[in-house]
Amino acid sequence: MKDLKPDHSTLEPIEIASKDEISALQLQRMKQTLANAYENVNFYRKNFDDAGVHPDDLREVSDLAKFPFTVKQDLRDNYPFGMFAVPRERIARLHASSGTTGKPTVVAYTQNDVEMWADVMARSIRAAGGKPGNIAHVAYGYGLFTGGLGAHYGAERLGCTVVPVSGGMTERQVNLITDFKPEIILVTPSYMLAILDEFTRQGIDPRSSSLDVGVFGAEPWTNAMRADIEQAFDMHAVDIYGMSEIIGPGVAAECVETKDGLHIWEDHFYPEVINPHTGELVDDGEKGELVFTSLTKEAFPIIRYRTRDLTRLLPGTARSMRRMEKITGRTDDMIILRGVNVFPTQIEEQLLKITGLSPHYQIFLSRSGRMDAMSIKVETDGPGRTKEQKESLAKELANHIKGIVGVSAEIDVGEPGAIDRSAGKAVRVVDNRGSE
Ligand code: DLL
Repeated sequence: MKDLKPDHSTLEPIEIASKDEISALQLQRMKQTLANAYENVNFYRKNFDDAGVHPDDLREVSDLAKFPFTVKQDLRDNYPFGMFAVPRERIARLHASSGTTGKPTVVAYTQNDVEMWADVMARSIRAAGGKPGNIAHVAYGYGLFTGGLGAHYGAERLGCTVVPVSGGMTERQVNLITDFKPEIILVTPSYMLAILDEFTRQGIDPRSSSLDVGVFGAEPWTNAMRADIEQAFDMHAVDIYGMSEIIGPGVAAECVETKDGLHIWEDHFYPEVINPHTGELVDDGEKGELVFTSLTKEAFPIIRYRTRDLTRLLPGTARSMRRMEKITGRTDDMIILRGVNVFPTQIEEQLLKITGLSPHYQIFLSRSGRMDAMSIKVETDGPGRTKEQKESLAKELANHIKGIVGVSAEIDVGEPGAIDRSAGKAVRVVDNRGSE
């Protein structure tokens, strides 16, 4: 793998500023953001008034904890434009997340917000080892989803040649990678695996591809998956985090030289971690639910937004700003199986230990009577395995899961391609418990 560590002289000064400098900037920006939200968004005015707090009550950054949370339902209640802090005419862009239930959540950007987003995305791609002049293959979906356009503007801002492929048409993805020779790919890790399969199908050695680094996010993925992808493509695999309500991709990103969790771009997004049950702040280093407050957004300021993502805050390493540990999962992805909490990422870790199985998987939950059951669909890594071989692979995986995760699962070993591929975020859990 290539040494991609960026030259420190190319970083923005704030990326390596002192803690005090960062805190001072955060305080000034937080004050402005609270005032903007209070003055221009009815929801925030009422929410703050009901909680008996006013933007003037913020004297230091830690005073933010006095302010009330914002949750997804608040966005739905104010659908479509009720959370915006600027007149509609000043909005340059809308994005929306579909969500599986209820109305979509709509988010807005002024021209300045679009610029800031491009800046933090450019910073993220540079942290991943991307450089001006590189070719960037963007296979995140374009459209209302923030992945494609976010990556696109960021790569352009960094000075890359952008190939706006979007997701899907996997055969063409491989052709374009082979012909255009990009150094960078930006895509969900699960779709990268589908691209990997297509390389193999076309008889092309993925290790011979031009790719030096993949910038993977939009869904949880494990360090075991990182190792697999890095080995398969002989390239770096780094993590990028974001959420449409906060800005889109580029809220936090991993540095290629350390790959030790994601530096949060704290000059624009202020993180807190809370106990999801009590709402109390937890100390840095302790695991809980991530909460974000935007510090520079104009059109859609967001105050103490509960992301439902589980992680912990860690001190800065390759950059001064704090890191968040790779996300384990979301509070709403947690499977409670006969009293044991299970995240899909825990299954992924065990699966990737087994030689003979591919990294694709899907979890099915069912209920008979009062008993919940989990079955996991996996695939062999090549065709033509005998029934006995499949049974033995199933047994091996079931034992690992029982031994380490602590739950019993039925394993269904299919042929390669048995599991539906998604061109974007993978659907890891199919919950049939309500429908039986
Ligand atoms: O997924 C934005 C994005 C696009 C991030 C491309 C990275 C790359 P949403 O569709 O609003 O936005 O979904 C946000 O996706 O709350 C997490 O649960 C999950 N997620 C995003 N990045 C990661 C990651 C985009 N690196 C939701 N690891 C978030 C784990 C992630 N989960």
